[in-house]
Amino acid sequence: MSEMLVTVKAKGAERWKLGHPWIYRSDVVEAPPDPGVVRVADRRGKFLGQALYSPRSEIRLRLLSRDDTPIDAAWWGRRIGAALARRGTVAASAYRVVHAEGDGLPALVVDRYGPFVVAQLLSAGLERVRDAVVAGIEAALAPEGILLRNDATIRRHEGLPLEVTPARGTVPETVEVEEDGIHYLAAPHRGQKTGAFLDQRENRALAGAHTRPGGRGLDLFTYHGSFALHLARRAAEVTAVDSSGDALARGRENAALNSLTNIVWREANAFDYLRDLERREEQFDTIVLDPPAFAKTKDSVPRALAGYKEINLRAMSILAPGGVLLTCSCSYHVNRGVFAEMLGAAAQDSGRRLQVLAWVGAGRDHPELVTAPETGYLKGALLQAID
Ligand SMILES: C[S@@+](CC[C@H](N)C(=O)[O-])C[C@H]1O[C@@H](n2cnc3c(N)ncnc32)[C@H](O)[C@@H]1O
Repeated sequence: MSEMLVTVKAKGAERWKLGHPWIYRSDVVEAPPDPGVVRVADRRGKFLGQALYSPRSEIRLRLLSRDDTPIDAAWWGRRIGAALARRGTVAASAYRVVHAEGDGLPALVVDRYGPFVVAQLLSAGLERVRDAVVAGIEAALAPEGILLRNDATIRRHEGLPLEVTPARGTVPETVEVEEDGIHYLAAPHRGQKTGAFLDQRENRALAGAHTRPGGRGLDLFTYHGSFALHLARRAAEVTAVDSSGDALARGRENAALNSLTNIVWREANAFDYLRDLERREEQFDTIVLDPPAFAKTKDSVPRALAGYKEINLRAMSILAPGGVLLTCSCSYHVNRGVFAEMLGAAAQDSGRRLQVLAWVGAGRDHPELVTAPETGYLKGALLQAID
């Protein structure tokens, strides 16, 4: 067990009791200067558990375990192996094995891309035990290579450098992924997140299943064509729009990989593009809206909501009668209720009657903790125009 001890106030101890894994700076009484795995006790000396400690972050402690079993490579291996077992069978060769707090392994992301692993260590405490974590990944998953995508900006709050470093073997520049019969190239070194948006896997299959055969599809914020590929299997033609030329170049390769020749790629600002489509009174049978997080902070929520409403209103306006719109937000600060309200307001302004076919979230390999709302971020709706 770790020798470092952190003492916390009753309020901090209460948070763990209520099932939240974080204890904030204001609830820490005494702590060592360095990050790492620590023992945590209350002011009376009662042992509460072991945690990752970050001396520079507002989130000082992240609960690892309530018992005193040594947290070594074997412990990480067991915990990662248990997370893998919980995944059961996922119908894709790339998926998330460890979703940080959602899997009881705070600040740790482990994504599997076929025989390779891309991981993220997102707190100072975790960074300190990097070797044990990497050994645990190796023991649980036996990958051919492990890449650390430690360039997520959240590491800045921890005083950690942003870097991409190989940890074991070699992970190639692109890895071919199979997802529900579609093939695409993930880019572990340079792509967004760990190389692909794995969290939308189930929603891509859902959108594909609701695509009108022979109709027109529109995938806004397409990245490397992820939704567009699923739509293109049934639609006559699909327009895929993104502002990133790099991502679109991979999108074209992905279309070729699937022998799909009915996708038109457009490098554009989706806001402008939608405005043009509306002005030209174009119509689409299947539309996907998967924008980046517009609300990065609590203060930016009103502005973000205006942006979400604008794109949703326009998308609703160009939806063909009976058409289907899959619309998402990955802003943690915009919760499900607020998102639903925004959709209602957009629908009212559009004058369309839209029914909800499904409320959706991140795939089941990105689990939320019911006792920690911060672990959820992606929400969406599958809507159908009644007339
Ligand atoms: C959440 S990701 C989309 C993920 C994708 N749908 C998938 O499933 O892989 C958001 C995408 O929006 C793009 N983007 C950001 N701002 C944009 C804008 N104003 N217009 C068009 N694309 C934008 C980014 O390049 C990024 O690829």
